[in-house]
Amino acid sequence: MLRKIDHVGIAVGDLEAAIRLYTQLSGKAASHRSEVPEDGVEVAIFEVGESRVELLGATRPDSAISRFLTRRGPGLHHVAFGVEDVQDALDHYQSLGMRPIDPAPRPGAGGRLVAFLHPEAGDGVLIELCQPEPEGGAANGGSPAAAP
Ligand code: CO
Repeated sequence: MLRKIDHVGIAVGDLEAAIRLYTQLSGKAASHRSEVPEDGVEVAIFEVGESRVELLGATRPDSAISRFLTRRGPGLHHVAFGVEDVQDALDHYQSLGMRPIDPAPRPGAGGRLVAFLHPEAGDGVLIELCQPEPEGGAANGGSPAAAP
């Protein structure tokens, strides 16, 4: 069901400072930046082999990332697993009694289908399920809008 760790999402207090850090860590520039105004989040992606690091900065104080930062401080926000089909994966995990945050797949920032499971499914870690981008689509980790 889970094909790989697609990316890890990290909540950061200062996106520009975090981009400088991760540019040093990864030895290259961010591959992608975008803002999801409806979610109040700005995203920067660093490619790491087959996986990615997704930095998540808040763009307004009432966004999910702002609330996360207030409650838990900067750090690991979610782990995203690549799945063949987000709807199939949601159905499967719900049949096992796991609670979704998103009742149905929704488009992430880059147009990829994503859905989040409640952190209790991941023993305290928010879990994102994401589907590979369509042919030629922009790489993106999905937006964490529904994060608690
Ligand atoms: Co993500």
